[in-house]
Amino acid sequence: MILNLTTYLMMTSSLMANMHLLITTFALAITGFEPVYSKVTSEPVFSAVGDPGMKRDGLRVAFEAWNFCNEVGTEAPSMGSPRAADCFDVVSTGKDNYHLNHKVTERDNHLSVGDSFPGLNPKALHDPDLYAAEKEIYLGNLCQVVTNTTPWQFWMIMLKNGNYDTTSGLCPENGKKSQPFPPGRFPCFGDGCMNQPVLDHQPTVIDYNSSSVSGPVMKGGFNGTYELSGGIDSYFEVTWQKKIGVGGWEFNHKLKTSKLYPWLMLYLRADATKGFSGGYHYDTRGMLKTLPESPNFKVKLRLDVKKGGGSKSQFYLIDMGSCWKNNGQPCDGDVLTDITRYSEMIINPEVAAWCAPSALSNCPPYHITPNNTKIYRNDTARFPYGAYHYYCGPGNAAHLEKPYSTCDPYSNPQAQELVQLLPHPIWAEYGFPTKQGDGWVGDARTWELDVGGLSSRLYFYQDPGTKAAKRIWTSLDVGTEIFVSDRDEEAEWTLSDFDVIITSKP
Ligand SMILES: *[C@@H]1O[C@H](CO)[C@@H](O)[C@H](O)[C@H]1NC(C)=O
Ligand SMILES: *[C@@H]1O[C@H](CO)[C@@H](O)[C@H](O)[C@H]1NC(C)=O
Ligand SMILES: *[C@@H]1O[C@H](CO)[C@@H](O)[C@H](O)[C@H]1NC(C)=O
Ligand SMILES: *[C@@H]1O[C@H](CO)[C@@H](O)[C@H](O)[C@H]1NC(C)=O
Repeated sequence: MILNLTTYLMMTSSLMANMHLLITTFALAITGFEPVYSKVTSEPVFSAVGDPGMKRDGLRVAFEAWNFCNEVGTEAPSMGSPRAADCFDVVSTGKDNYHLNHKVTERDNHLSVGDSFPGLNPKALHDPDLYAAEKEIYLGNLCQVVTNTTPWQFWMIMLKNGNYDTTSGLCPENGKKSQPFPPGRFPCFGDGCMNQPVLDHQPTVIDYNSSSVSGPVMKGGFNGTYELSGGIDSYFEVTWQKKIGVGGWEFNHKLKTSKLYPWLMLYLRADATKGFSGGYHYDTRGMLKTLPESPNFKVKLRLDVKKGGGSKSQFYLIDMGSCWKNNGQPCDGDVLTDITRYSEMIINPEVAAWCAPSALSNCPPYHITPNNTKIYRNDTARFPYGAYHYYCGPGNAAHLEKPYSTCDPYSNPQAQELVQLLPHPIWAEYGFPTKQGDGWVGDARTWELDVGGLSSRLYFYQDPGTKAAKRIWTSLDVGTEIFVSDRDEEAEWTLSDFDVIITSKP
């Protein structure tokens, strides 16, 4: 690789979670009815997401595309602002006959800077970044499901282009206005490399004659490419399908990089229904009607990786994202002091640990065992080096323990911290992958991950003497980041049954 990108890992998070162990769900065959839970243990247990296990016939799914610093920059010609949604309720119109009552029109999906819509702040009308943030809220209003609990909006498909035109000075540096600098550190083919994609939408329809399944099946999808001027080299696709009244939605993902777009990310996220979500500094909409807090939550999902995406594919099972300040206070939108915090387990067995006794700067200062024993990274006999791919601290942390790496300052609207994990026996306690190859191609599994327990014991930076931050996660996602590959790579996977289960009330 010609670029020195090793210290410029970027990550984004998407989250999704599902859970429903310990839960009995009674959902009426036709949607529109909220599942009801019965407690079968003395501990309160409930789903944090609006659509536990992705079982609701009336789907709520949205799409967002981000540039390198999680903004829009410039819209792609005639594509509108890169926010779209597919949301509908299923109405029975007779025996084995149904109608999908769509909530979002293609006109809504094509809304573009300069087009007004109800509730739009005039200040956002001609600003592609602000416009997209407001369009997400508008689509959220159309999709919103209101029940006797917190309203919720949609699963979020997130697509990100890792190209950065450093001569543009477009992305802030740890939240501060940055200066342009010469190309070389990040992929970019030249002017326009940070473009938004061509997006196609197949609105969900009912297929009464599906060859593979008996009974009516609902199908839809988003797909597209980053190549704007013909030639479909890079490609992304997310399709969904479900038999009416039976089982859950299956989300099939494809992601392909190209010479011009060598660094792409595609995730399915469960984001907060309001406030910020991981890596996004605008008010957000999503699926997490209760925000999970460490250690009291689990994530359940089924993952079938069909194609890995090559040696640079950092497939995340799972990625969690949040935000708190270095003094432990919650984020408030001030990009100079808010810090995005991410942790993710990379399940591609071709990704090796960068953390090693000879590379302590790539390791967190310490590891905490399930029995709460702290093991320092200089304790070469006991520290689980193989369990950590890479740790980097926030670029604006004043008291990082030497030696250290700091995270890429440009790929988030604010400074970020990353704790990247690898399958290792040390994670067995939490139900995470314990050896290379677990959950990878040919090993489709249903996972029940104690994300809350694990995340409660990870190291995250705080200024000395400050009160520990509440670890509240605003994004849980699954998907891959194909990280600057020198060849065209293709990943393909299916995600289903996603749930986030709160295991005890705060
Ligand atoms: C489904 O197949 C039947 C018999 O092959 C045909 O009569 C019907 O028109 C088809 N329906 C649709 C919606 O394609
Ligand atoms: C998206 O998929 C549709 C249908 O499969 C196809 O016709 C279209 O060309 C695809 N769009 C892009 C941009 O690849
Ligand atoms: C905690 O676990 C470690 C290894 O996981 C073990 O060596 C140690 O004895 C345990 N400590 C206690 C107090 O149980
Ligand atoms: C290991 O690191 C800890 C924490 O930084 C430090 O207190 C200790 O002195 C170090 N031990 C050795 C042998 O360097």
